[in-house]
Amino acid sequence: MCGIIGYIGEKPAMPILIDGLRRLEYRGYDSAGVAVMEDTIALHKTVGRIADLERVVPPVSSGTMGIAHTRWATHGGVTEENAHPHMSMDQSIAVVHNGIIENAGNLRQRLIETGIEFRSETDTEVIVHLISREIEAGRTPLEAVRRTLMLLRGTWGVAVMIHGYDEVICARNGSPLVIGIGEGEMYISSDPHPLSSHTSRVIFLDDGDIAVISRSGVETHRTDGPTDHMIVTIEDQWGDSDMGDYPHFMLKEIHEQPEAIRQCISGRTLVSEGNARLGGLSLSAKRLRLLPHVRLIGCGTALYAAQVGRLAIEHLARVPSFAHVASEFRNNDPVIDSKAVYFAVSQSGETADTLAAVKAIQAKDAEVMGVINVVASSIARQCGQGVYIHSGPEQAVASTKAFTNMVAALNLFALQIGRARDMPRTTGRTMVKALRALPDQVQSVIEDKAPYSAAVELLKDAKSVLFLGRGFSAPVASEGALKLMEIAYIPCLAYPAGEMKHGPIALLEEGSPVVVIAPDDVHRDKTISNIEECKARGARIILIHTEGDVIAEHGDVCFTIPSTEESLSPMLSVVPLQLLAYYTGLALDRDVDRPRNLAKSVTVE
Ligand code: M6R
Repeated sequence: MCGIIGYIGEKPAMPILIDGLRRLEYRGYDSAGVAVMEDTIALHKTVGRIADLERVVPPVSSGTMGIAHTRWATHGGVTEENAHPHMSMDQSIAVVHNGIIENAGNLRQRLIETGIEFRSETDTEVIVHLISREIEAGRTPLEAVRRTLMLLRGTWGVAVMIHGYDEVICARNGSPLVIGIGEGEMYISSDPHPLSSHTSRVIFLDDGDIAVISRSGVETHRTDGPTDHMIVTIEDQWGDSDMGDYPHFMLKEIHEQPEAIRQCISGRTLVSEGNARLGGLSLSAKRLRLLPHVRLIGCGTALYAAQVGRLAIEHLARVPSFAHVASEFRNNDPVIDSKAVYFAVSQSGETADTLAAVKAIQAKDAEVMGVINVVASSIARQCGQGVYIHSGPEQAVASTKAFTNMVAALNLFALQIGRARDMPRTTGRTMVKALRALPDQVQSVIEDKAPYSAAVELLKDAKSVLFLGRGFSAPVASEGALKLMEIAYIPCLAYPAGEMKHGPIALLEEGSPVVVIAPDDVHRDKTISNIEECKARGARIILIHTEGDVIAEHGDVCFTIPSTEESLSPMLSVVPLQLLAYYTGLALDRDVDRPRNLAKSVTVE
């Protein structure tokens, strides 16, 4: 989704900004632009990729201060006019903005009445005209930005450059901004990753902060005056983040799952005690024993991992657990019990809906723990405690290794809470053993010479695909459908298998592909009946089942997974579904790493 990068220092800004934009590409965007302070502000924008922007920027640019942006369209179509930066009418002020200005319509109308001519359809453009009005009235840049922000309703991470002033003004409200501190130079980014090649010393702005950034330092302010800020040292979590020998990040990340799971469980299981220890959770055994319930919130893949997690907590610990769509939970006036535990599940740690839900829960005096991949991300910092899932960088838009590690982390929690309650040590030991076997088991599924091309043949021209599973496999069905939909653009529907006969069965006709996830668990026999109901209507069954199970005779194309504990089976059964989505996407010539319209970090509500 939208990304911001900024620079002020001694070096030419343009190459630094373009490099920063490249590092933000993984977030997803549809247009990009850059503004560099020369004698006047030089502005360059384009629809498409950063490579397209590079073609329109001059080969040499001497300006040492600039701001740049990748845009993911919200207000207004994908056009050059709507791309950021946006400029004041006299071209003396440039603004880039992430987030949404909710009262932009009214402000726009009022500005038009004073003679302002808008060049774009964006909500952002009101910001630059409002700042311009304040500058014309003789205010300093800081005052102009502060007074403008007081008129806005919504969310922003914003960076402003004003001709005649050797500083960049930034502000944050609900949309992250990080300032990187160098020697005689400063960087601004919406995401710590682009800063990692320049500096490890950063300041994370908080909501309500305004920062005045010059070559020599940063001053931070709030609406009522100056405020302190904390400089923190971050590690580059991305390390070697290129594709290596893989043709796509998605395939690379699928293959990284065994190692990622090892990282997630390493040091967190206690073999002889048959227990797990998640050091980031400040939950005493007494608190765990008395928990009335657990609620987990997330979006997309993280939501499906949360659904697996809630089943694991109920199954292993017998504690009522619920998984919620973050955007719905927050806006449905939820009853919050401060004795309960809430988990926010997110790969990026930046998802706006999840972050907003966290704040809503905290506002009602309950604790939220993060189950997060990106260290020091907004949700991780907002929660203040939780479990890092340690998947390593996930750059493909389709989430893969984060799902398996979220499920692993939530199983560890389910084990910990189960052991604090009534789970016998022997059961705990069995779980620990099964968890430790998972990396090798996932490896074997990845390496299996399974019939992917036969399954792709069934899927690639389908009008729609139905995914079915029961119990722990119901969220896996949802995740499989999401993967195929986002990578191959095929309409997919996921249903608990028993619910299929209450509606979706009407879709089935001769040759309709149905993907069934049926490991050898308590639901297996009932799922066989559902398979037969589908076959009776001409459906072709792509079946994921446990090795050696005679259920294979019910499938047309079969994929096998090793046997494991019930609550861990999603970590195995999801792998063929990820690969199926990948290979079907390839067969249809899709951009599998950057599917259309999607963003990696969804930072708008
Ligand atoms: O970063 P998060 O885990 O919070 O992201 C949540 C969803 O946006 C994400 O899982 C999305 O659905 C992916 N494209 C799924 O592959």
